[in-house]
Amino acid sequence: MLSLHLLWPHITGKGAGYGKSARRAVEVAFKAINVRGKTLYELGCGYGSVLVAAYRSGARAVGVEIDPIRALICKLRCPGCTVIRGDMFNVPLEDADIVYIFQWPSVNERLAEKFNRELRRDALVISYYWEVPNMELVAKFDDVKLYIYRPRKM
Ligand SMILES: C[S@@+](CC[C@H](N)C(=O)[O-])C[C@H]1O[C@@H](n2cnc3c(N)ncnc32)[C@H](O)[C@@H]1O
Repeated sequence: MLSLHLLWPHITGKGAGYGKSARRAVEVAFKAINVRGKTLYELGCGYGSVLVAAYRSGARAVGVEIDPIRALICKLRCPGCTVIRGDMFNVPLEDADIVYIFQWPSVNERLAEKFNRELRRDALVISYYWEVPNMELVAKFDDVKLYIYRPRKM
């Protein structure tokens, strides 16, 4: 039952199932990018560690999570955050200044199409662990596996 909960998004082909960003990578991300006063979406916010860090750093933090249990825990951990229980592919991103993801490579490829279509040209995408194809790389921190991109307009 527990492993089904952890793997459900992957089994359904929606996205990565489990895993958590390393705290050090999140620190590096929010040191490299000033999120204060910005609208930050985390797509697949899991149990909320990154969202809480973004909120504490002054962002308007919006999390999207497909798993109801994780979404609930996330909301309880961060009452000041907006948590949307749903599929990240269905959430419009026009008002995002920054998007944070920790998904799998095949998912990142699909997300890149959405980012290039919907994000403003000056928005930033932070990807933990896996690179995102077909976007403009603006910075990378190989030691913590963190990659930062801008959309590439079609
Ligand atoms: C690898 S975990 C990352 C958790 C958190 N973002 C972090 O970095 O610590 C991926 C998360 O994405 C969620 N997820 C997968 N597919 C999704 C989708 N289509 N829409 C929303 N959330 C999704 C999973 O339920 C899981 O919580």
